Parts: sequence; structure tokens; C-alpha cells
Amino acid sequence: MTRAALGVFGLGVMGQNLARNVASRGIPVAVYNRTRARTDRMMSEHGGEGDLRPAYDVASFVAALERPRRVLIMVQAGEPVDQAIAALRPHLEAGDVVVDGGNSNFHDTRRRATALEAAGLGFLGTGISGGEEGALRGPSLMPGGTRAAYHHLEPIFTAIAARAEGAPCCAYMGSDGAGHYVKMVHNGIEYADIQLIAEAYDVLREVAGLGPEEQAAVFREWNQGDLDSYLIQITAEVLAKRDPETGLPLVDVILDEAEQKGTGRWTSQDALDLGVPATTITEAVFARFLSAQRDRRRAAARVLGTSRVAAGDRAGLVDAVRDALYASKVVAYAQGFEQMAAASARYGWELNLGTIAAVWRAGCIIRARFLDRIRQAFDRQPDLQSLLLASPFRDAVEQAQDAWRRVVRTAVELGVPVPAFSSALAYFDGYRRERGPACLVQGLRDYFGAHTFHRVDRPGTFHVRWAEDGDQVEV
Ligand code: 6PG
Repeated sequence: MTRAALGVFGLGVMGQNLARNVASRGIPVAVYNRTRARTDRMMSEHGGEGDLRPAYDVASFVAALERPRRVLIMVQAGEPVDQAIAALRPHLEAGDVVVDGGNSNFHDTRRRATALEAAGLGFLGTGISGGEEGALRGPSLMPGGTRAAYHHLEPIFTAIAARAEGAPCCAYMGSDGAGHYVKMVHNGIEYADIQLIAEAYDVLREVAGLGPEEQAAVFREWNQGDLDSYLIQITAEVLAKRDPETGLPLVDVILDEAEQKGTGRWTSQDALDLGVPATTITEAVFARFLSAQRDRRRAAARVLGTSRVAAGDRAGLVDAVRDALYASKVVAYAQGFEQMAAASARYGWELNLGTIAAVWRAGCIIRARFLDRIRQAFDRQPDLQSLLLASPFRDAVEQAQDAWRRVVRTAVELGVPVPAFSSALAYFDGYRRERGPACLVQGLRDYFGAHTFHRVDRPGTFHVRWAEDGDQVEV
């Protein structure tokens, strides 16, 4: 019997579905899980779907693979990945390639890449998006590592990836942590997208008085236009769903505490490290934190009073929310792509932003019609500083501006919090401002800490002894 082309280590839902996806393309796959019961269950449920070969210890799992070997680790991010690598290593040989397909932190991926490459092994930190369904039917893949390691996996990756206009949603991202970084920013943008949708729902509900089912129709309609995307589509489905127990709209029965596994927070943390103003993603992370403080919110509502929404000016509000959502979304993506450009320069990756947009067109959670326009914008101008400056987005935001302001103004007046809408708008206003108030920030810093400042009219670094009414000195 020929050996298996790929080994999948870790048979949670994602691992199982990826293994089934590969096997369904006629590629033999060896599968292994630390606990045997899970392997047995998978084989009894799906063993007939393709050439899936169970192994019950690491040595025979590795021995079942053709050389150089390809092993896809699908375990929880963090310590379990190091444990899986440690278990595999004694059985691997130079030239074998290990793939980590989890949502690993890119700093960990860089560390693991250095260690494994020094031992002659290939390592591919690979972002995989699309959830359980995507893993089974076609995910978006973001591999990072050496090119040689990538080429070894390329035929399998491109066979199982989602397709957009016939092209596989998989491309080499760059060295060491590049793939996991791009996936991290994908998730950060996913947080922003979801938060913006939640704010749109809140305004439509609190201000326009639209119930979940009426809103489902609105989102369905929005999905026919510029907002066409997977997340808008499933928002309509979530809003339309009724609770089988109570018969109420299910969304009304779900606890309003957002959880998170960490990738959005990491995106914000690295944006802070890079000095990139990724405000919309970060507001989305903060909004989840605030939502999680449910006891505090309930106590505060009793003391401070919840916002009581008086009937606002509702005419045309639905269309205005749609425009505000689109404009804010453009800002979130502009910030995410700016962050990837900055990371690429900092970490030496040479990320291709047009390729990233292309890989995100299908299979992943943020897949959307407008990613094709983003790809075109970066293909036309690879060094584009901000998506806000590219014509289709510049024009769209220009057209949406009045509506955007109206939605934020109305929400603020009525006490409906719209942190992502309003911070996106504040970013837009700040970004296009030739001269802002940071002159005063610099003056204050120089006053209390002699931190110096620069002048608009000539070069040099200056300090003033402000309190003593002293002279300006050049330092
Ligand atoms: C994907 C998703 C996936 C996962 C997120 C959820 O691209 O398939 O992003 O990675 O669903 O990690 O993240 P939170 O639990 O942090 O919301």
C-alpha cells in the first residue's frame, strides 16, 4: 500500500473536517488523536468517505506517511502545539514539513519556525479560515514559512481550498509568522465587522423600532448590494431564527456577553506595538470586554439609568444605517491592511496585500464582494497608503458621509452606544485633517517634561521654559 500524502494530528472538528476534505479529493490521509476514542468515532462516522487511515501512536502515524512527510497539526493554540511538535520530532527527519493550522500567536510561530528550521525541518504556520464548514468544503488558507516547505504542501492546499473565480483561496504569505499574522488580522477585521453589524442592529432596533424579523429582511436586502458578504447573510439568518423553547426570536434569548479566544486582542496589541491606529478593531475588542461586564452594567443601569430612546427621526434611517455600516467597514479594512503593511516592514515579510485580499474572497469568515475591489486597488497600486484613498472607496465613503454622521449623531443623542461607528468616523475625520490638535499635546509634554517639540516653520528640536516665561532654546 502506498503511504499517506498527509498526516493530520489532532481530530477536533477542524482537524477531522480538514482530513475529510483532503481525503474527499482522493488523497490518502493518516489521522491521529492523543485519545484513541476520538479517532475511533471519526472512523466509524466518516471512515467510508475516502482513504482515511487511523493510527494509534505517534510512531506508526509518522511511519504511515510518504517522505518527505507532511504533518498537519490541528490542536488548540498555545502549549498543545509545542507538545504536539515535541511528540512528533523524534520520528521526523530532515526535509519533513510540519504545518500548524491553528490560530497560533505569530510570535510563537516565529519561535517554532526558527527552532524547527535549525533542525532541518520545514514549518508552515498556516492560517485557516472558514469555520467547520469551510474546513470540510473549502477554507481560505494563509500559509507562512519557507518557500520550499510551502511548495511541498501547495498541491494539497490548493486542492482543498475554496475557489474564487476558479482560483484557489490559498497563497504563500511570507516567511515564519506571516501566515498566522495575516490570519490574526483577518480575525481582527472579523471582530470589527461583527461589532459594526451589532451596532447597526442596535440602532435599527432602538431607534427605528425594528424587531429581529423585520431586520432579517433588511439584512437580506443589504446582502444584495455593496454589503454582500457572508457575515451579512448569516446575520439575516440569525435574526430570523426563533427559539424552539419559547417561540421568541432566538437573538432575544441569547445572553448579551461576547466571548473571545484572543486573536482580536492580539491584533490590537500588535497594532499598539507597531504604532498603527487600528481604532475600529480595537473598539470592537473593547466592546466585547464591556459586554462581558454584565453584572457591573446591570448595577450601573440602576444608578445611571439606561438610555431611554425617544422616537428619533426615523425616515430613511434604515438606508442611513446601511451607508454608515459600509463606510465604517471600509475604515476597518483600511486600518487592517495598513497594519499588515506596517507588520510586513517590521518583521521582514514582503506581504502582498492584493494577494491577501484575493485569498479572502471566498472560504473565510470575512468573505465579501468588496474584497475583489480591495484586491484590484492593491494590484493597481501595491504601495497604496490607505484604502480610503483608492477611488471606489473614496467615492463610496464620500457618498455615505451624511448618512454616517446622521446615524452617529442620532445614536449619540438618544444614548445608543455606537463605539465602532463613531470611532471609524472619528478616524476618517482625523485621517483627512491637515492640521490637528496634537500641537497642544506637544506643548503640554514640553511644559511638564521638557520633551521638546518641532516647529512648522523651520527644522530643529526646541524646548521652552514655559513656567518661567523663558525663551525658546534649540536642543
Ligand atoms: C475563522 C474564524 C475562527 C474562529 C474565531 C472566533 O476564520 O474561521 O475566525 O478562527 O471562529 O477564532 O474568534 P473568537 O472566539 O475570538 O470570536
